[in-house]
Amino acid sequence: MCGIVGILGKNPVALDVVEALRRLEYRGYDSAGVATLENGKLTRCRAEGKLRNLETKLSKEPLSGLIGIGHTRWATHGRPSVSNAHPHATDKLAVVHNGIIENFAEFRAELEADGFRFESETDTEVVAHLVTREMNRGLKPVEAVGAILPKLRGAFALAFLFSGEEDLLIGARNGPPLAVGIGDGEMYLGSDAFALAPFTTMIAYLEDGDWAILHRNSVEFRNVDGQVVNRQAQMVAAGAALVDKGNHRHFMAKEIHEQPEVVTHTLTTYIDMVSRKVRMPFSETLDWSKVDRLTMSACGTAYLAGLTARYWFESLARLPVEIDVASEFRYREPPMPASNGVAMFLSQSGETADTLASLRYAKSQNQTILSVVNVPTSTIARESHIVAPITAGPEIGVASTKAFSCKLVTLASLAIAAGRMRGVIDEAREAELVQELIMLPGLMTQALKTEVDISRLAQRLGKAKDVLYIGRGTSFPLALEGALKLKELSYIHAEGYAAGELKHGPIALIDEDMPVIVVAPHDHLFEKTASNMHEVAARGGRIILITDEKGASEISIKPDSTIIMPTMPSTFTAMVYAIPVQLIAYHTALGMGKDVDQPRNLAKSVTVE
Ligand code: M6R
Repeated sequence: MCGIVGILGKNPVALDVVEALRRLEYRGYDSAGVATLENGKLTRCRAEGKLRNLETKLSKEPLSGLIGIGHTRWATHGRPSVSNAHPHATDKLAVVHNGIIENFAEFRAELEADGFRFESETDTEVVAHLVTREMNRGLKPVEAVGAILPKLRGAFALAFLFSGEEDLLIGARNGPPLAVGIGDGEMYLGSDAFALAPFTTMIAYLEDGDWAILHRNSVEFRNVDGQVVNRQAQMVAAGAALVDKGNHRHFMAKEIHEQPEVVTHTLTTYIDMVSRKVRMPFSETLDWSKVDRLTMSACGTAYLAGLTARYWFESLARLPVEIDVASEFRYREPPMPASNGVAMFLSQSGETADTLASLRYAKSQNQTILSVVNVPTSTIARESHIVAPITAGPEIGVASTKAFSCKLVTLASLAIAAGRMRGVIDEAREAELVQELIMLPGLMTQALKTEVDISRLAQRLGKAKDVLYIGRGTSFPLALEGALKLKELSYIHAEGYAAGELKHGPIALIDEDMPVIVVAPHDHLFEKTASNMHEVAARGGRIILITDEKGASEISIKPDSTIIMPTMPSTFTAMVYAIPVQLIAYHTALGMGKDVDQPRNLAKSVTVE
């Protein structure tokens, strides 16, 4: 999760770029850099480590120029170093980037074969060379950027500065946010409005797939098809808090939409994108090969993240897992392994009373306490032997969304690490699984495109009295999560069931008024879930199917609605399928006029039992 900035100014911009980067340093501080045009010529200053190192360097070697871009880095591809620091440059342009270019390796091989020389280990540098290659073929900067953007896969925000172009910046967004700030004869690009607050309060946000062509006195937005589109600028209060709603109506909407970006951040904590290996976190204190049993406990959505991860720990690490909601676990007095037991507690807030009490019980039973939390300074974190931060950033909406997916990414990484240490998976399988994790931000970005269909569907769902969610495998906890989300936001009664359990009771509820939401990626369990769908259809139930192209084409009944998800490998579908599940609850509640950020009777942090 890096921060990017661009300024087209009237006065020298380098120090303003640094000022904006200071406001983005919370996104990463592995290195920082600025590029400007001095008399039309590209010039750069980059430093490893915190922004102050760049400032020191700039004080000795100042950069002049009325146009510039800047970057503060959270390393993904390539270790923190000056050569890996952004901006990356060629003789034609400089570029800064936030996110991951998934298909960088194939482009790198192709560009190297074409004679391009790489100076860094980053995925970003391929973007610089791809645009340069187009310009070498005679395209102008805007045409060259337009030509390469459709080729890039993954989630990214980019800002470009071109040699000899004193009045041109280009920004592009596919996933991570990018804002355009409009000043008086000056223009800005930034990862958020807060970065631009010292310079302007007029902010327009790029939508997914947009790119923007900035001149000092104008800005043109184009959509993914290259058509010119209107993106309305709005007034954002100066000094806007670090946590604002961006261009969303609610914190929940913002938090759903920022998942590709925050998940990228989590991924960088737990995996090495270049070597395709999981970092073995806390390997000195936790040797998974010696663990006899993993006990998990949590509440609400955090519990459902744990329930999902049980499938991974069992299949990828062959580790026995026990899991229970914390309000039960704490009073059950469950026997725990006398030695070699690890107890894991999951919590966004790190303050949930029942989870904390369960932790204290497990501690009294001599378990190694591992907490998976979003707030690393919380009580649960402080009382744990080992803390695995999920790095989702502040979650304000009471309904937990991005913390769920960041927990899943953390847990998936831990399960892979455990599998490697226990000798269950080999290096090649690890690389495959890591590659599947790396694809997640891009897939989540695609999944967000289901929103238009879902908002239409939600109009009808808002009229239901009861809703059933079903799924198998990791889609079963997701069915529970879907029902929980719908209940807490819309106050519609909803239940989640393992699809195979339907015939053992709940099928009695099915009639033509009962929507049944089926979470069913085309995986090894798809056929089984398809049989359950037939059972529902035979009883007149209304099916809303969330699946991929293959699932949709193979099912012979006609669902009421089908939400088509991107095709992906089957292990980690939960992170991607969580998005439509969250959007269904959000749009249903919104259509019913409910307070989605602060639903009735709930609190974000439940510190009472
Ligand atoms: O802060 P925690 O993760 O410990 O919170 C646990 C639950 O209270 C929480 O997940 C709750 O279920 C959410 N409101 C669900 O959206």
